[in-house]
Amino acid sequence: MTIKILSQAITDELERVRHTIESQLQSGISEVDDMLKLLLNYQGKMLRPMLVILSGRMAGPIIEGQIKLGAAIEMIHLATLLHDDVLDDADRRRGKPSINHLQGNEAAVLLGDLLLSQAFYLSVEIGSLELLGYVSRTTQLICEGELSQVLRRGDYNLEEEEYFRIIAGKTASLMQCCCIQGVKLGQGNPDICQAAEQFGYNLGVAFQIMDDIKDIDNGQASFISKTLGTDMAKEKMTLPLIHYLMRSDSATRDQVRDLLRTGDQSSRHQLADRLEQFGSVQYARDRARDYIDLAKAAIRHLNDSDGLCLLADSIL
Ligand code: IPE
Ligand code: IPE
Ligand code: MG
Ligand code: MG
Repeated sequence: MTIKILSQAITDELERVRHTIESQLQSGISEVDDMLKLLLNYQGKMLRPMLVILSGRMAGPIIEGQIKLGAAIEMIHLATLLHDDVLDDADRRRGKPSINHLQGNEAAVLLGDLLLSQAFYLSVEIGSLELLGYVSRTTQLICEGELSQVLRRGDYNLEEEEYFRIIAGKTASLMQCCCIQGVKLGQGNPDICQAAEQFGYNLGVAFQIMDDIKDIDNGQASFISKTLGTDMAKEKMTLPLIHYLMRSDSATRDQVRDLLRTGDQSSRHQLADRLEQFGSVQYARDRARDYIDLAKAAIRHLNDSDGLCLLADSIL
């Protein structure tokens, strides 16, 4: 709800971002254009463009470069979702059948690649080599995070520290990029840039922890806009699971493995109940709260930081 209210406060800027994205989604090749047009049906929360705009506002009035950055980052994000749904075999995204479900994995992967290239082409228009370097490096970090997660699936010895490294790459890095580059484009001073960077990073870590908790608590999947339960189905190590495994004896660890590998809904519910009863879900919630506190502490003293602080609270 808070996200909706906050986005209404910056509705003109977000409309410009949407318009910029729409203007990029064309190729002149009719079958490719049909696919690109399909993407217009997939409207997300626009959290990342919101971060660019709200961070930019801490530096001053919003300029065209920040609108383009918001659009480019949302396109990079959407590309990672297209690829992620292939990896996770997910058939729903943003309240609709996913692109891989509708058009197959090959088209979804290539459409993601096309979106990434379009996003970089748009970033060039912003006219800052430093920004382009930061966005490129961030995209590398996302890919490294997702790749590392795929390679460590089913690794019951994955430590908390490694989990945090993975989610820092795959999720926090992009939010960090939104915040620091949003401020930089507004000519914000180095102190505001550094504060915004810390805010974005900590927010992103908390965001992924909360997303992982939602994936476990998937009892009402039919009301939810994306396929849930895929973390367990793919034996991805999430924070509640790591917390539980690290405190379990070898017999319990074997039971967890059996529940995950059985792979049906009832086994996943059994495991979800165990994680809840053992306090592992609460542990993860508490860690997310710690990161939200760090995020807010980084920017609280700055002018016009109320919007970002409200957004941070809404993640929990
Ligand atoms: C989903 O992000 C991917 C994760 C990092 C967990 P969002 O929840 O922001 O997705 P959209 O953009 O609203 O669809
Ligand atoms: C993927 O994480 C985050 C990306 C960088 C794409 P998830 O696999 O948890 O994202 P959802 O839950 O499918 O949105
Ligand atoms: Mg996924
Ligand atoms: Mg998830």
